[in-house]
Amino acid sequence: MPPVLANYYLTYKCNSRCTYCDIPVKPENIPIKEVAPEIIIENLHALKRLGVKVVDFTGGEPLIYKHLPVVLKEAKRLGFFTSVANTGTLYPEKADSLRGLIDDLKFSLSTIDTDFYKTERGINGFAKVIESLKIAKSLGERPSIIATATPQSLAGMEDVIGLAQEMGVVVLLGPVFDFCDNELLQKEGIAEIHRLAKYDNVCVNWAFTQFFLDGGNNIAKPRCKAISSTIVVSPDDHLLLPCYHMHDERLKIKHEGGRSNLDEIWHSTHVQKRKAEEGSWSFCQGCTIWCYFEASFLWPPDKYFLLNLKSKWRWGNEKLKQLVEQKSGLCLTRKLAGDKDKIMKAISTNPLNSPAAKPTAEIIC
Ligand SMILES: C[S@@+](CC[C@H](N)C(=O)[O-])C[C@H]1O[C@@H](n2cnc3c(N)ncnc32)[C@H](O)[C@@H]1O
Ligand code: SF4
Ligand code: SF4
Repeated sequence: MPPVLANYYLTYKCNSRCTYCDIPVKPENIPIKEVAPEIIIENLHALKRLGVKVVDFTGGEPLIYKHLPVVLKEAKRLGFFTSVANTGTLYPEKADSLRGLIDDLKFSLSTIDTDFYKTERGINGFAKVIESLKIAKSLGERPSIIATATPQSLAGMEDVIGLAQEMGVVVLLGPVFDFCDNELLQKEGIAEIHRLAKYDNVCVNWAFTQFFLDGGNNIAKPRCKAISSTIVVSPDDHLLLPCYHMHDERLKIKHEGGRSNLDEIWHSTHVQKRKAEEGSWSFCQGCTIWCYFEASFLWPPDKYFLLNLKSKWRWGNEKLKQLVEQKSGLCLTRKLAGDKDKIMKAISTNPLNSPAAKPTAEIIC
């Protein structure tokens, strides 16, 4: 099976400092410079030749890369499904230039408490995220919220779900993975995620939570297909092997006569040899870095494959509901089935309800 996904790191720079992510502060990342959009566009053509279907433009904070609209435009012209996750802190000033170019637009948000937001993400960004969600909806986008559950944020997730239901957006809820010695959820935490998964607008990848409970990747019988399913490109134009998070190899991409050799590198004997070993290195033991597992679970058919399909089905239905609500103004969402006090708390602390930011008809369904 050809690779389906590209995790395209446009920059390692970021204006946030999340407790569970070291991308912008990792010493090796700091001197890395971004490349011109023409280089990225040549790589997009190579990704097309490789058979990639989805390009996730990521970072760092991808909106820091000033040519993002140009590369997104070309990605759309080439027929890719485009995906961008961002914090929402820079979106308001870029929203017009990005309009209609992102198929899966996601804003990261794990709390509705402004102080906790600052503690978790290192900046005072909560109000901007809400503003971004409102702007995105007003421009006809159908954004989602990525809610990363940590031992500290899990208790507030019902409030995030309440906010998402109120705004008519989908919540992609998942557990934090071990990346920079951050604290992980225990099995009770995963049970809580499964409880929350039954609420409207919530999407949990059950394959991933099961994999988490099963102890993650087992190097004796690897389930990771990071190299075969996913192409990872760095901001300074290297193919990263085997994945961004644990790359021990950076292969420089060459450009000649307007053509990138990214596809040739991927087909090389060396990369194919590493592909045969994917998931079996010692650093892969217990890995749960979800950025590679959704695509890894696309084959072969096993319990993770089936749970992944079930999760995709749910996601498809939730996004369809979002589309119908947006087009028709109908309200198809069953508001939080939790106790009324919690709903009231979520609503009363939601900035949308403050007089300065009166909710508008197109936001509240
Ligand atoms: C690496 S960020 C890049 C995009 C952007 N900077 C953002 O935070 O939305 C992509 C997503 O990965 C999530 N993430 C980062 N570190 C993580 C970890 N250790 N476990 C789970 N999710 C993580 C972020 O919360 C974000 O939703
Ligand atoms: S905003 Fe994204 S890239 Fe920046 S520190 Fe947080 S998770 Fe990492
Ligand atoms: S198991 Fe994890 S660390 Fe190993 S290659 Fe896959 S994603 Fe990377």
